[in-house]
Amino acid sequence: MDFRKVQFLLSAHAMGQLPEPIYPDIAFAGRSNVGKSSLINRLVERTNLVKTSSRPGKTQSLNYFLVDNGLYLVDLPGYGFAQVSKQTRKSWQGLISRYVEIRSTLVCMVVIIDLRHELKSLDRDLIDWLRYLHKPFLPVYTKADKLSRNDQQKNAALLDASLTLTPDERIIFSSRTGQGLDQLRTRITALATSFQGGVDPGGFFTDPI
Ligand code: GTP
Ligand code: MG
Repeated sequence: MDFRKVQFLLSAHAMGQLPEPIYPDIAFAGRSNVGKSSLINRLVERTNLVKTSSRPGKTQSLNYFLVDNGLYLVDLPGYGFAQVSKQTRKSWQGLISRYVEIRSTLVCMVVIIDLRHELKSLDRDLIDWLRYLHKPFLPVYTKADKLSRNDQQKNAALLDASLTLTPDERIIFSSRTGQGLDQLRTRITALATSFQGGVDPGGFFTDPI
């Protein structure tokens, strides 16, 4: 999968605006300002395909990107940003939860967590909920460049313990240095490939030779 072959597709503000589910979705969720959009930019090797900002709450809709004519990357609005009205917060949460429940082609939710901090309750809520729904997810601990290698391992072990994860179930990452990028690409490519195998109706409609 060539991640550099990427194009912006659309911004969805409601479920009716999602693109045809002909490719698998990989969605990126996490607290506001954690680095979701930066991670996607790094993944596709663009500096500003996805708008990033030091101001939390930059991404406010479901933004779809098409990769290599075979995969949708979905940048989700961040959660946990206090400086918005209750109403706005509710509508964001509603949008994300409806999306996860409805979108059958969602093959993985990448849950991005700041490696510098202990687990926040909204991150735990999201992961508990994904587990409850049996939706595959991949935790990515980001902003690793802000810590020494030693502290990276120490903090990752604490987050692992909070989430009952083993080290091979998550990735330590940095959008700034590209640490963890190969691992992330390998995982996403495998997910996209397994989806193609799973939905191909060719064998059903064509007679065996
Ligand atoms: P919202 O769309 O507001 O929810 O934010 P987001 O999660 O998309 O975060 P975004 O990618 O816009 O990044 C937020 C800030 O964190 C920006 O100032 C980025 O430059 C910075 N940032 C993101 N990832 C990293 C990283 O891996 N390392 C460092 N040092 N800074 C990062
Ligand atoms: Mg964003």
